[in-house]
Amino acid sequence: MSSPFRVVVLISGTGTNLQRLIDTVHVGGEPIEIVRVVSSREDAAGLQRAEDAGIPTAVVLQSDHPDRAARDAALADMVEEERPDLVVLAGWMSILTGTFLDRFPDRVINLHPSMLPAFPGMHAIEEALAWGVRWTGVTVHFVEEQVDGGPPILQEPVEVLYGDSAESLTARIREVEHRLVPRVVRLMAEGRVQRDPVHRRRVSISEGTSQ
Ligand code: GRF
Repeated sequence: MSSPFRVVVLISGTGTNLQRLIDTVHVGGEPIEIVRVVSSREDAAGLQRAEDAGIPTAVVLQSDHPDRAARDAALADMVEEERPDLVVLAGWMSILTGTFLDRFPDRVINLHPSMLPAFPGMHAIEEALAWGVRWTGVTVHFVEEQVDGGPPILQEPVEVLYGDSAESLTARIREVEHRLVPRVVRLMAEGRVQRDPVHRRRVSISEGTSQ
């Protein structure tokens, strides 16, 4: 049997996307394994989800380090020990600098609850509602130093309904996230996602069975 595709997941919160990854690709009989979950907060509920699934966890706190570069170097050392094929930011709420990202080129992905480049940042759903857009959505993208600025891998639109609250829209966006993130991890594991070496914002997805 070939060795599994090794995934490290970084979280900061509830970890519903982590749970979906655990329930789908991790235990799904696929050659994909979540080898460690790292949280930026000690009280992240997602840590318990990982422990329940028998996945090793760790916490890396900014407050234990003098600055972000030092935190990112320590985080990168820890992640590198796991020899990850992919690092998934699943609700990781802390900016990663080049100190971390340069160690894992084209191997760090993030999910964001909007159709980027619309509504980057922490309040994408509230801003979409305030703006009155008819459609928003979900983006899974490569991570670059510019926050929410890396090229998209998959995007899926979500309709904003008249009378939507932040809660109702979030619930529909979450459903899409929970489908899209495992899909991208599978595509990456199958080696079907390619970033153009020259035009770095162009991402191609080759044909296959698991889209
Ligand atoms: C998701 O909505 C994601 O888009 C945002 O943070 C949320 C994480 O949710 N970046 P969870 O921790 O996976 O439940």
